[in-house]
Amino acid sequence: MGNAVNKRDLTSITDLSHQEISNLLERAKEIRNGANSLSLTGKSIALLFEKPSLRTRLSFEVAVSLLGGHSIYLGPDEVGLGVREPTADVARILERQVDIVVSRTFTHSTIKELAHWARIPVVNALSDLEHPCQALTDLLTVWDHIGCIRGITIAFIGDGNNVATSLALAATALGANFLIASPNEYQLPKDVIKRVENIAQQTSASFLQIKDPNEAAQKADVIYTDVWTSMGQEDEAHTRKVAFQGYQVNNALMSLAHPNAIFMHDLPAHQGEEIATGMLEHPQSVVFDQAANKLHVVQAVLELVLPPKHVSKTQR
Ligand code: NVA
Repeated sequence: MGNAVNKRDLTSITDLSHQEISNLLERAKEIRNGANSLSLTGKSIALLFEKPSLRTRLSFEVAVSLLGGHSIYLGPDEVGLGVREPTADVARILERQVDIVVSRTFTHSTIKELAHWARIPVVNALSDLEHPCQALTDLLTVWDHIGCIRGITIAFIGDGNNVATSLALAATALGANFLIASPNEYQLPKDVIKRVENIAQQTSASFLQIKDPNEAAQKADVIYTDVWTSMGQEDEAHTRKVAFQGYQVNNALMSLAHPNAIFMHDLPAHQGEEIATGMLEHPQSVVFDQAANKLHVVQAVLELVLPPKHVSKTQR
């Protein structure tokens, strides 16, 4: 059964201490600047994805290839996690043949179950509750463009979803102030709000969940948004489109922010919904730099989770 050996998972951003988040961003920068990174020669990484992915899958595949390893993409049709085969069984097959599992799942409990049963590191590549690799990528981008993270103000406009959760937890851990404006029914889950408030208290950051997007945007250093309907919520698309009217990031909203504020989006974006047409090309948009940073971040993530002395699979 899982957890029998010491191993490092990244299922939630809170699997990392505040110092580790900071170190990981430093390391991603060093790797981007050409520092020697770990070698994955002879190592295999399974990408077990239940949902589509462009940036995250691409970043992991390219990262593994740059580090000399081999990645195996297992999409929904190949595996049928929990449907064709129980998650616990899939985990126990994977741990005997590969060295790390990177997984994108519908429910967070599937990631937790994989991590429980597999005696190898499991990395969350997005679940319904969290997107830790995205939050790390976002903070690296903030650091690049603003020059610091502590003390800045990030205004998240829209759904209190997986991306908002991981970013709120990570940003406040590094001392950034975090405001999120969402309609009543789409605020961050209550337990997440409590956790973020706790972290903010420890780091002297501020955190507010509010309703008014204009209030959130006032003097913010970062305006961030994500889709109104996440993967797996397609049946709610119409209701959500109605509920999120007034939450679009556009020139008018951007003009309320600090004059040097940056605009961020984890992509894919829906122009005409959460962003006005042309926002990706807005002079303050850094969305493509943000997307590019994921490659460096996931190299640092692989380095963090890979055990230093590798246990032979036959010894497991
Ligand atoms: N919140 C979005 C993020 C996509 C990268 C989703 O879960 O679909």
